[in-house]
Amino acid sequence: MRLTPLVVVANRLPIDDGVAPDGAFEWRRSPGGLVNALHPLLRHTPAAWVGWAGGTGPAPRLPDVDGVRMHTVPLDGDDLRDHYEGFANATLWPLYHDAVEQPEYHRRWWEAYQRVNQRFAAAAAAAAEPGGLVWVQDYHLQLVPGLLRELRPDLRIGFFLHVPFPPPELFMQLPRRAELLRGMLGADLIGFQRAQAAHNFAQLVTKVLGLPATDRRIGVGERVVRVGAFPVSIDTAEMAALAARPEVADRADRLRQDLGDPERVILSVDRMDYTKGIEQRLKAYRELLASGDVKVRDTVLVQVAVPSRDRVAQYQILRDRVEHQVGRINGEFGRVGEPAIHYLSQPFDRTELIALYRIADVMAVTPLRDGMNLVAKEYVAARADDTGALLLSEFAGAAAELGQAYLVNPHDLDGLKQGLLAALRATPEDVAVRMRAMREYLHRNDIHAWARSYLSALDQTGSLLRRLGPTD
Ligand code: ADP
Ligand code: G6P
Repeated sequence: MRLTPLVVVANRLPIDDGVAPDGAFEWRRSPGGLVNALHPLLRHTPAAWVGWAGGTGPAPRLPDVDGVRMHTVPLDGDDLRDHYEGFANATLWPLYHDAVEQPEYHRRWWEAYQRVNQRFAAAAAAAAEPGGLVWVQDYHLQLVPGLLRELRPDLRIGFFLHVPFPPPELFMQLPRRAELLRGMLGADLIGFQRAQAAHNFAQLVTKVLGLPATDRRIGVGERVVRVGAFPVSIDTAEMAALAARPEVADRADRLRQDLGDPERVILSVDRMDYTKGIEQRLKAYRELLASGDVKVRDTVLVQVAVPSRDRVAQYQILRDRVEHQVGRINGEFGRVGEPAIHYLSQPFDRTELIALYRIADVMAVTPLRDGMNLVAKEYVAARADDTGALLLSEFAGAAAELGQAYLVNPHDLDGLKQGLLAALRATPEDVAVRMRAMREYLHRNDIHAWARSYLSALDQTGSLLRRLGPTD
C-alpha cells in the first residue's frame, strides 16, 4: 500500500455505488455536506480517504478520484443496522440536533459503534505515512482519534465535527458519554462549526472527566488538546464560475419557462431529514396560500428533498408525512398544469442544482437545527448579480456568518410566514445590499480558507503543510 502524508477518515467515501439510468453499475458522488465540502479540497493533494462505499459485503477496490486514494472500509449487515442506522443516526444524530426526534439507546448499537470505529482506526493507521496527518470527520467516528493515538502515537490527529455539539443537559443523557469524550480527546485539535459547541465540549470534559478546560485548551495528562470553531464553507469561486456558464443560464431559462414563468420562485433543497424543518415550512406555505397572501399562479414553491437514511424508521415516517402534505396542498390549491408545490425527490447533478439556484427569487433554508447548511452558502455564491433573497433559520450554523439573510425562527409558524412574505416582497435594493455583503463574505471565507485555518492550527510547525503544497 502506498502511504500518504494526509489521510481523511470519514464514514462515507466521496463516491458511492449506484445504478446508472441504463441499468449499469456506476460510481457517483455521495450525498451530503461533508463530502461536498472536503472533496474539492483534496484534489491534486497527495492524500488518501478512508471510508465506507455504501452497501454491505466485501470492500470493493476503488479507483483514485482526482488523485486521492480511496481506502474502503467494509460494513456488514449488522454494522449497517447497529452502527450507521443505529448508534450514529438514531442515537447521536437526533441527540446532537436538539433531540427534535427522540434519541434511542441500545447496548448492541454501542458495541457496533466501538467495533466499526476500531476498523476505521486500523485502516487509517495502515494508510498514513510516518509522522503524517490524519483528519477524522464527524459523529460516526468519535472514538477513532483515541484508538488511532494508541496505534500510531507518531501521527498528528485532527477531529472535526460537522454537526452541532449539544449542550451538557442533552449530552448527559448518553449512557457512554465518558467514552465518547475520551475518544475525541485522542485528537490534537478538535474543530467545531460554532464557538458555542466548543464551549459545550469544554464544559462537558470538566463535568464528566474532571479535566482542566477552557474553550480553547484542554489538559489531558501531559498533552494539551486544542479546541476551536472553524465554520466549514464551500468552493465559492467554483460555484460562481459554474453558475456563470452559458449552459447553466440556458437551463435556468428553460426551468423558469417550464414552471409557467411565475413572478416568484421559492426554492428549498434538503436531504429528507427531520432536522431540516420541511414539515413546518410546508405548513407555513399552506397557510399563506389559504389566506391568499400567496397565489399559485404568481408564486411557485420548488421543494427538492432527496431521500436519505431511508431504512431508519424516523426517516420513513417523515417521508410519508411530507409526501402526504405535498399531495394535500397540491390537491387543495393546485390547478391543472399548475401545482402549488413542485416536489422532487431525486439527486441532481451540479448543473441542474445550480440552475435551480439561479431561478430562485427566494431560497428558503429553515432547518430546526443544522451544523452549518451548505445549501445556503451555495445559493449565495450562485447569485453573482446580487439578486435573490435568502430566508435562513437562526438555528443553522450558517446564520452565525450570514447575518444579512432574512433570519427566522422555524418553530414560530407566524414568524416563518412573515419572514417568507418579507423575502418575497423585499425591494431589489434591499436584496442587493444583503446579497452583496454575503457574497463578499463567502469569497473571503471559502473552503480553502477553512482548510488552511484548520490544518495550520493542527500542524503548528508547518512541516506537513509544506509537504502537501497549496490546498487551492
Ligand atoms: P447536509 O450535510 O445535512 O445534507 P448541507 O446543506 O450542508 O446539508 O449539504 C447538502 C449538500 O448536498 C449540498 O452541497 C447540496 O448541494 C447537496 N444536495 C442537496 N440536495 C441535492 C440533490 N437533490 N442532488 C444533488 N445534491 C444535493
Ligand atoms: C451530514 C453529515 C455527514 C453525512 C451527510 C449525508 O452532512 O454531517 O456526515 O455524510 O449528512 O448523510 P449520509 O447518512 O447519507 O452519509
